[in-house]
Amino acid sequence: MIKIFILVIAYSFSVNLWANETEKKTETAKNLEVAPETISPDLITLAQQELDFDEQQLLLKQKRLKTHIEFCAPCHGKTGISVVPIYPNLAGQHQEYLLKQLLAFKYRRRKDAVMQGMVSRLNEDDMLELAKYYANISIGPSQPNPTGDVNENTN
Ligand code: HEC
Repeated sequence: MIKIFILVIAYSFSVNLWANETEKKTETAKNLEVAPETISPDLITLAQQELDFDEQQLLLKQKRLKTHIEFCAPCHGKTGISVVPIYPNLAGQHQEYLLKQLLAFKYRRRKDAVMQGMVSRLNEDDMLELAKYYANISIGPSQPNPTGDVNENTN
């Protein structure tokens, strides 16, 4: 009796494993856009490692960006809106313009003693990520629109 019981358990366990494996195969096949039966277990492991690596890289990148944002925040505000009038707002500014300014500070085409020091810790990828971050912050309807008409909220 106990033998049958163990057999049943072992059987359902292996079915489960098999189902898992099939599921993994199908998923990997979908990602790679090939038929599931052409996927070898090695390839699955490899694909999984690749995905894990990509995920780790993304997390590292996000962490790095967050550190930089916090570093810029005392002057430009965490959301790119400066609380001190001598520091420019960055939120909602064009990404191209922000990147151009950061590069200009970095390569001394634009001179400012404070910002010079700030960009020394940034590489070009960091600058692009920061420019994207501030450009994507929406600053609401109080901007003049591109036709030159000034919104009523602006004075
Ligand atoms: C200690 C204060 C301070 C910190 C911290 C700081 N900045 Fe600045 N930032 C300034 C000042 C001051 C200016 C204006 C420079 C000028 O007058 O040319 C400026 C200008 C800029 C500009 C140009 C804006 C424009 O409208 O032309 C950008 C872009 C910028 N900062 C990005 C950053 C980023 C990104 C960080 C973080 C890595 C950072 N800043 C950290 C003080 C600071």
